Amino acid sequence: MKDKILVTGGTGYIGSHTVVELQNAGYDVVIIDNLSNSNVKVLDGIEAITGIRPVFVEGDCTNIDVLRKLFEANPGIKGIINFAASKAVGESVQKPLLYYRNNLNTLINLLDLMPEFGVKGIVFSSSCTVYGEPDMNPIDETAPIKPATSPYGNTKQISEEIIEDYIKSGAPIKSILLRYFNPIGAHPSAEIGELPLGVPQNLVPYLTQAAAGIRKELTVFGNDYNTPDGSCIRDYIDVVDLAKAHVIAIKRILDKEDTDAVEIFNLGTGRGLSVLELIDSFERATGVKVPHKIGERRAGDIEKIWADPKKANEVLGWTAGVPIDETMKNAWAWQCKVTQK
Ligand code: NAD
Ligand code: UFG
Repeated sequence: MKDKILVTGGTGYIGSHTVVELQNAGYDVVIIDNLSNSNVKVLDGIEAITGIRPVFVEGDCTNIDVLRKLFEANPGIKGIINFAASKAVGESVQKPLLYYRNNLNTLINLLDLMPEFGVKGIVFSSSCTVYGEPDMNPIDETAPIKPATSPYGNTKQISEEIIEDYIKSGAPIKSILLRYFNPIGAHPSAEIGELPLGVPQNLVPYLTQAAAGIRKELTVFGNDYNTPDGSCIRDYIDVVDLAKAHVIAIKRILDKEDTDAVEIFNLGTGRGLSVLELIDSFERATGVKVPHKIGERRAGDIEKIWADPKKANEVLGWTAGVPIDETMKNAWAWQCKVTQK
């Protein structure tokens, strides 16, 4: 058995896929999640894939006493992967304090307890949202951070700064900040995937629900952007590829002595796809049509952004490998499974 890792938000979308990859790599996993945006049944899906049920603590990371008890009851945690956060951009504009309180207090509590419990490192879920609308694409980690356009985005910027300041102050920990581009898809087993509550705000869950007839049609938000087909461009990354990067990152922190105390990596494919290209890919991969129409632009949308993932490729030895059509097939298999339930 390898080291013990605490995964906060481990029953969530990216967290659950990461727990699977950690277990596949031999790590012992403890999850804490308050189930504010996930379901405890996700543990069944994880167990169905790996044959191992992770230790699960239902609790809130904003409560430092809950975390302290968790560390006391599960001695020997060496690393943390911190997914726990609220993540809906629109909601964060309506309820900024909820976002600042949840996302920042969670991080501060974890950082506070790490030295006391001998936890060596923390991998943090950041986002390409810190780059805002890029001046050029692809974008690498040296690009300037732009003023955040939502309280959610601001929590990611502030979190990165909190980690950097804490380590600068001499805290005996290391951190890797992972800036995700657009995570999509599901585990190929269809045992776990994304479970949006209510009407999906993100493209792929909306698209698969429209294809399944749960939504009348997908609205493509704008076709008059300065892009080849007029729709916005993103770097869509398969969630299993993304999960694997976390295993590499935590291993790097725990096993490698000669690395910087804080490192930042973009996690993307390096390829930008438009909304219309993504719809094409889905239809090609599944043979299922996506009812859609062109609508107005969505306020605040970035026109185009895709990653330069060279640093992650070279330093972490990680590459996003799942072809987009495969990702679309997996997203559809997951949607079909959820619809049947
Ligand atoms: P998710 O909502 O599916 O997972 C987050 C999990 O954290 C949920 O299970 C939720 O119940 C839990 N949680 C929230 N607050 C908590 C708290 N105070 N204590 C304990 N558990 C708590 O989201 P996700 O898509 O898996 O995202 C994971 C992380 O990645 C988040 O930090 C998110 O901001 C970041 N991220 C996500 C995306 C994306 O597009 N999905 C992109 C960039 C960054
Ligand atoms: N889109 C549509 N119709 C929809 C939903 C989305 O056309 O019904 C378009 C958007 O306009 C955008 C693209 O699909 O061009 C992707 O939109 P998402 O909402 O799926 O993703 P975003 O890039 O807007 O934002 C997401 C997360 C953010 C995160 C960011 C970067 O919501 O939290 O990725 O990781 F910061």
